[in-house]
Amino acid sequence: MPQVTTVIGDALATERDAVLLGVFEDDGRWTGTLAKTDKALNGQLRKLREWGEVKGKLGEVTVVHSLGLLPPRRLVLFGLGKSSELDAEAVRRAVGNAVKTLNQIGVRHAALVPPETNRLTLPDLARAITEATLLASYRYSKKSSDDGKPSLERLELIATSRRSASEMGTGVQLGTVMAEATNFARDLVNAPPMELTPTALAEQAKAVAEKRGLDCEIYDERWIEEVGMGALRAVSLGSDQPPRFIVLRYEGKAGAPTIGLVGKGITFDSGGLCLKTAEGMLEMKGDMAGAAAVIAAMDAIAQLQPAINVLGCVPATENMPGGRAFKPGDILRTYSGKTVEVINTDAEGRLILADAISYAKEKGASPILDAATLTGAAIIALGPICTGAFGNDEQLVREIVEVGKQVGEPIWAMPMFADYRELLKSDFADIKNTGGRPGGAITAAWFIGEFVGETPWVHLDIAPTFWSDKDRHYFSKGATGVATRTFIQFVLNRAKG
Ligand code: BES
Ligand code: MN
Ligand code: ZN
Repeated sequence: MPQVTTVIGDALATERDAVLLGVFEDDGRWTGTLAKTDKALNGQLRKLREWGEVKGKLGEVTVVHSLGLLPPRRLVLFGLGKSSELDAEAVRRAVGNAVKTLNQIGVRHAALVPPETNRLTLPDLARAITEATLLASYRYSKKSSDDGKPSLERLELIATSRRSASEMGTGVQLGTVMAEATNFARDLVNAPPMELTPTALAEQAKAVAEKRGLDCEIYDERWIEEVGMGALRAVSLGSDQPPRFIVLRYEGKAGAPTIGLVGKGITFDSGGLCLKTAEGMLEMKGDMAGAAAVIAAMDAIAQLQPAINVLGCVPATENMPGGRAFKPGDILRTYSGKTVEVINTDAEGRLILADAISYAKEKGASPILDAATLTGAAIIALGPICTGAFGNDEQLVREIVEVGKQVGEPIWAMPMFADYRELLKSDFADIKNTGGRPGGAITAAWFIGEFVGETPWVHLDIAPTFWSDKDRHYFSKGATGVATRTFIQFVLNRAKG
């Protein structure tokens, strides 16, 4: 992974593989480094603009060789869009595209001149640039044919004073932690299911805890049965892989509230006896994306040391159709004591979340946030663009939507009219585990809500966003690490009060 640092100096005076310069769509004046560069290149840069080759459109990248006229070998002009519309996400997308180009052409050492703008503070600007650089350089590669390393080794952000360097430095630090956590979550999600079993996921959590000094408890199948987590246990029965219940605890301030983070940890979802199709199973190694977000967020939180407490809970199991598998018609006793009639074994996520949320409640966590690749219905409703938010507290849902905006993880609030709960009425138990196809994402949320009670709670259905089918700005095909940054930022904001 490249390292992002800040340096004070003149970007044009040092030999590097490339210097990155931002270009606005609506600003033809070109002052500062852009003007100096153009002058050194005898006005050839301006020509590119006149000819329409450089428009400054968001995401545009143009590589220009300096051909010996300047110490840096290349100038990489990256479009920032309209200066009046610049925000952290625009910076991330613009820099993300530029960094992908650097990695394609084999650039190792580069400098970036931060664009002049009053729409972002210097720390926020540096943070967005750093996040984009690290997220865009990510690759999951276990192919023997390539070494899987990005070429970029160092990106230096050019500062003009000690003061601006130190302000940017704060942003670089935070951006590095945010992006590294996101990339860690992506690694967990991209890992093949025969490697990332519930046991292996628990070992990953344990490793984080040991590295960062978090309390960590890994509970096994015996404990799960003995304490009465009947829903988690039922889902695990069809698999030869034993389940785990993973608890991570961060204590940042005695007496402060404890935020509960819960993540769905199905390391492979075959659907169980209600077996999925081959196509339907393809991305189901990523059915632990919520768990990955929780574990990665705890890793970041432990580094950032906010003055608040956080409890991370991950129920982890496979959902398989083995001979002992739970069946449609089974009635499960959950950790809360409530009973569930199983209609469909493929609606397993809500079952394991029910037990985990009851546990978080018992430990006094409030509010509780959960992330889960819960329903295909959320994908149908929202497409691949945003996460769905559901909850029992409109204020909290609004807060989460705002946090999502802040970190560039778009979230949309979904309706939770009480009448949806009717669809889960069971003749044989307190509740049934599916409410039919119409409104499937909402009834799934209501199912979880049944176990939440009065505790303020938000459920993030990340089925639409946990996976990217193609390269998109700072993401490549595969896991996105979604919810990691929302979780971290929510905790940071709450700690600041
Ligand atoms: N893990 C799936 C949901 C999912 C599907 C996530 C595609 C990401 C991509 C979940 O366990 C599931 O199978 N849900 C069912 C629920 C249904 C049986 C009520 C679904 O959405 O079809
Ligand atoms: Mn399922
Ligand atoms: Zn699932």
